[in-house]
Amino acid sequence: MQPPDFDAMYAADPDPWNVRDSWYERRKEAVVLALLARERYAHAWDAASGTGDLALALSRRCERVTASDASARAVALTRDLLSDASASVVVNALPEVPPLAEAPDLVVLAEVLYYLPEADRIRALDAVAAAARPSAELVVVHWRHHPDDAFLAGAAATEEADGVLRERGWERVVWHDDRHFVAASWVRP
Ligand SMILES: C[S@@+](CC[C@H](N)C(=O)[O-])C[C@H]1O[C@@H](n2cnc3c(N)ncnc32)[C@H](O)[C@@H]1O
Repeated sequence: MQPPDFDAMYAADPDPWNVRDSWYERRKEAVVLALLARERYAHAWDAASGTGDLALALSRRCERVTASDASARAVALTRDLLSDASASVVVNALPEVPPLAEAPDLVVLAEVLYYLPEADRIRALDAVAAAARPSAELVVVHWRHHPDDAFLAGAAATEEADGVLRERGWERVVWHDDRHFVAASWVRP
Protein backbone atom coordinates (compact mmCIF):
# COMPACT_ATOMS: atom_id res chain seq x y z
CA MET A 1 0.00 0.00 0.00
CA GLN A 2 1.20 3.51 -0.87
CA PRO A 3 0.39 6.55 1.28
CA PRO A 4 -1.96 8.98 -0.49
CA ASP A 5 -0.69 11.89 -2.58
CA PHE A 6 -1.38 14.62 -0.06
CA ASP A 7 -0.12 17.37 -2.37
CA ALA A 8 -2.71 16.35 -4.97
CA MET A 9 -5.40 16.35 -2.29
CA TYR A 10 -4.53 19.91 -1.22
CA ALA A 11 -4.32 20.97 -4.89
CA ALA A 12 -7.86 19.71 -5.46
CA ASP A 13 -9.20 21.28 -2.26
CA PRO A 14 -7.29 23.53 0.17
CA ASP A 15 -9.27 22.09 3.09
CA PRO A 16 -9.67 18.40 2.14
CA TRP A 17 -10.87 17.34 5.61
CA ASN A 18 -13.17 20.31 6.06
CA VAL A 19 -11.28 21.48 9.14
CA ARG A 20 -12.95 24.89 9.15
CA ASP A 21 -16.55 23.77 8.92
CA SER A 22 -16.92 20.28 10.30
CA TRP A 23 -18.05 19.93 13.90
CA TYR A 24 -15.88 16.81 14.24
CA GLU A 25 -12.73 18.81 13.37
CA ARG A 26 -13.62 21.83 15.50
CA ARG A 27 -14.46 19.60 18.46
CA LYS A 28 -11.25 17.59 17.98
CA GLU A 29 -9.21 20.79 18.08
CA ALA A 30 -11.06 22.00 21.18
CA VAL A 31 -10.46 18.68 22.97
CA VAL A 32 -6.75 18.68 22.05
CA LEU A 33 -6.38 22.21 23.40
CA ALA A 34 -8.31 21.29 26.56
CA LEU A 35 -6.21 18.22 27.33
CA LEU A 36 -2.93 20.16 27.37
CA ALA A 37 -1.71 20.12 30.96
CA ARG A 38 -0.04 23.52 30.96
CA GLU A 39 -1.43 26.91 30.10
CA ARG A 40 1.74 28.03 28.32
CA TYR A 41 4.55 26.29 26.43
CA ALA A 42 7.87 27.59 25.22
CA HIS A 43 7.90 25.75 21.89
CA ALA A 44 5.26 23.54 20.29
CA TRP A 45 5.92 21.37 17.26
CA ASP A 46 2.88 20.41 15.20
CA ALA A 47 4.40 17.61 13.13
CA ALA A 48 1.61 17.31 10.51
CA SER A 49 0.09 20.76 10.42
CA GLY A 50 -2.27 20.30 7.45
CA THR A 51 -4.19 23.56 6.95
CA GLY A 52 -2.43 25.06 9.99
CA ASP A 53 -5.56 25.62 12.07
CA LEU A 54 -4.32 23.69 15.12
CA ALA A 55 -0.84 25.23 14.84
CA LEU A 56 -2.46 28.69 14.88
CA ALA A 57 -4.44 27.79 18.01
CA LEU A 58 -1.26 26.40 19.62
CA SER A 59 0.62 29.60 18.79
CA ARG A 60 -1.71 31.45 21.20
CA ARG A 61 -0.46 29.22 24.05
CA CYS A 62 3.23 29.11 23.06
CA GLU A 63 6.14 31.47 22.69
CA ARG A 64 7.13 29.77 19.46
CA VAL A 65 5.66 27.17 17.09
CA THR A 66 7.26 24.88 14.56
CA ALA A 67 4.73 23.54 12.07
CA SER A 68 5.74 20.91 9.55
CA ASP A 69 3.98 18.70 7.04
CA ALA A 70 5.03 16.29 4.31
CA SER A 71 2.96 18.24 1.78
CA ALA A 72 4.47 21.46 0.40
CA ARG A 73 0.95 22.70 -0.33
CA ALA A 74 -0.12 22.15 3.29
CA VAL A 75 3.01 23.99 4.41
CA ALA A 76 2.11 26.97 2.18
CA LEU A 77 -1.39 27.05 3.72
CA THR A 78 0.03 26.85 7.24
CA ARG A 79 2.58 29.55 6.48
CA ASP A 80 -0.16 31.94 5.31
CA LEU A 81 -2.22 31.28 8.42
CA LEU A 82 0.72 31.71 10.80
CA SER A 83 2.19 34.80 9.15
CA ASP A 84 1.61 36.90 12.29
CA ALA A 85 2.77 34.26 14.77
CA SER A 86 6.27 33.48 15.95
CA ALA A 87 6.44 30.39 13.80
CA SER A 88 8.73 28.36 11.63
CA VAL A 89 6.86 26.40 8.95
CA VAL A 90 8.71 23.76 6.96
CA VAL A 91 8.23 20.75 4.72
CA ASN A 92 9.16 17.62 6.64
CA ALA A 93 8.07 14.00 6.34
CA LEU A 94 8.01 11.97 9.55
CA PRO A 95 9.93 10.03 10.75
CA GLU A 96 12.42 12.75 9.78
CA VAL A 97 12.68 15.68 12.18
CA PRO A 98 12.81 19.23 10.80
CA PRO A 99 15.35 21.80 12.02
CA LEU A 100 14.11 22.95 15.43
CA ALA A 101 15.32 26.27 16.86
CA GLU A 102 15.11 24.72 20.33
CA ALA A 103 13.84 21.42 21.67
CA PRO A 104 10.03 21.54 21.88
CA ASP A 105 8.20 21.12 25.18
CA LEU A 106 5.03 20.15 23.33
CA VAL A 107 4.73 17.87 20.28
CA VAL A 108 1.40 17.16 18.57
CA LEU A 109 0.85 14.29 16.12
CA ALA A 110 -2.67 14.89 14.82
CA GLU A 111 -4.15 12.33 12.43
CA VAL A 112 -0.83 11.41 10.91
CA LEU A 113 0.54 8.16 12.37
CA TYR A 114 -2.04 6.03 10.56
CA TYR A 115 -0.66 7.28 7.24
CA LEU A 116 2.79 5.83 8.04
CA PRO A 117 3.79 2.18 7.66
CA GLU A 118 4.50 0.38 10.93
CA ALA A 119 8.29 0.76 10.98
CA ASP A 120 7.98 4.50 10.26
CA ARG A 121 5.34 4.92 12.96
CA ILE A 122 7.73 3.52 15.57
CA ARG A 123 10.64 5.49 14.13
CA ALA A 124 8.56 8.67 14.23
CA LEU A 125 7.73 8.19 17.92
CA ASP A 126 11.39 7.55 18.73
CA ALA A 127 12.51 10.56 16.68
CA VAL A 128 9.98 12.82 18.39
CA ALA A 129 11.06 11.56 21.81
CA ALA A 130 14.71 12.21 20.98
CA ALA A 131 13.99 15.73 19.67
CA ALA A 132 11.77 16.85 22.56
CA ARG A 133 12.82 18.25 25.93
CA PRO A 134 12.94 15.75 28.77
CA SER A 135 9.98 17.62 30.29
CA ALA A 136 7.97 17.61 27.06
CA GLU A 137 4.34 16.64 26.66
CA LEU A 138 3.41 14.55 23.63
CA VAL A 139 -0.12 14.49 22.20
CA VAL A 140 -1.48 12.00 19.65
CA VAL A 141 -4.98 12.22 18.20
CA HIS A 142 -6.72 10.23 15.43
CA TRP A 143 -10.16 9.71 13.96
CA ARG A 144 -10.93 6.36 15.61
CA HIS A 145 -11.94 4.58 12.37
CA HIS A 146 -9.89 3.31 9.42
CA PRO A 147 -9.57 5.82 6.55
CA ASP A 148 -9.59 3.96 3.19
CA ASP A 149 -6.16 5.38 2.36
CA ALA A 150 -4.49 4.73 5.75
CA PHE A 151 -2.51 1.77 7.04
CA LEU A 152 -4.67 1.18 10.10
CA ALA A 153 -7.51 2.58 12.18
CA GLY A 154 -6.90 5.61 14.35
CA ALA A 155 -7.86 3.76 17.53
CA ALA A 156 -5.24 1.08 16.74
CA ALA A 157 -2.59 3.70 15.83
CA THR A 158 -3.16 5.55 19.11
CA GLU A 159 -3.10 2.30 21.14
CA GLU A 160 0.12 1.31 19.40
CA ALA A 161 1.65 4.70 20.25
CA ASP A 162 0.57 4.23 23.87
CA GLY A 163 2.28 0.83 24.00
CA VAL A 164 5.51 2.08 22.41
CA LEU A 165 5.73 5.22 24.54
CA ARG A 166 5.00 3.44 27.82
CA GLU A 167 7.59 0.82 26.95
CA ARG A 168 10.05 3.72 26.50
CA GLY A 169 9.20 5.11 29.96
CA TRP A 170 6.57 7.72 29.08
CA GLU A 171 3.64 8.06 31.47
CA ARG A 172 0.15 8.45 30.05
CA VAL A 173 -1.62 11.53 31.38
CA VAL A 174 -4.86 11.67 29.35
CA TRP A 175 -6.76 9.01 27.41
CA HIS A 176 -9.83 10.39 25.65
CA ASP A 177 -11.70 7.69 23.72
CA ASP A 178 -15.10 8.43 22.20
CA ARG A 179 -17.20 7.32 19.25
CA HIS A 180 -15.33 9.66 16.89
CA PHE A 181 -11.72 10.06 17.96
CA VAL A 182 -9.04 8.91 20.36
CA ALA A 183 -6.71 11.51 21.87
CA ALA A 184 -3.97 10.94 24.41
CA SER A 185 -1.06 12.69 26.06
CA TRP A 186 2.13 11.47 27.73
CA VAL A 187 4.99 12.93 29.73
CA ARG A 188 8.26 11.50 30.97
CA PRO A 189 8.38 11.20 34.77
C1 LIG B 1 -5.75 14.06 8.00
S1 LIG B 1 -4.55 15.32 7.71
C2 LIG B 1 -4.40 16.00 9.36
C3 LIG B 1 -3.95 17.42 9.37
C4 LIG B 1 -3.91 18.08 10.74
N1 LIG B 1 -2.92 17.44 11.60
C5 LIG B 1 -5.27 18.00 11.39
O1 LIG B 1 -5.47 17.23 12.34
O2 LIG B 1 -6.18 18.73 10.92
C6 LIG B 1 -3.04 14.38 7.56
C7 LIG B 1 -1.86 15.28 7.32
O3 LIG B 1 -0.68 14.52 7.52
C8 LIG B 1 0.27 14.92 6.55
N2 LIG B 1 1.25 13.82 6.43
C9 LIG B 1 1.08 12.61 5.89
N3 LIG B 1 2.19 11.85 6.02
C10 LIG B 1 3.08 12.62 6.69
C11 LIG B 1 4.41 12.43 7.14
N4 LIG B 1 5.08 11.28 6.92
N5 LIG B 1 5.02 13.44 7.81
C12 LIG B 1 4.38 14.61 8.02
N6 LIG B 1 3.13 14.86 7.61
C13 LIG B 1 2.49 13.88 6.95
C14 LIG B 1 -0.56 15.17 5.31
O4 LIG B 1 0.10 15.94 4.34
C15 LIG B 1 -1.79 15.85 5.92
O5 LIG B 1 -1.60 17.24 5.97
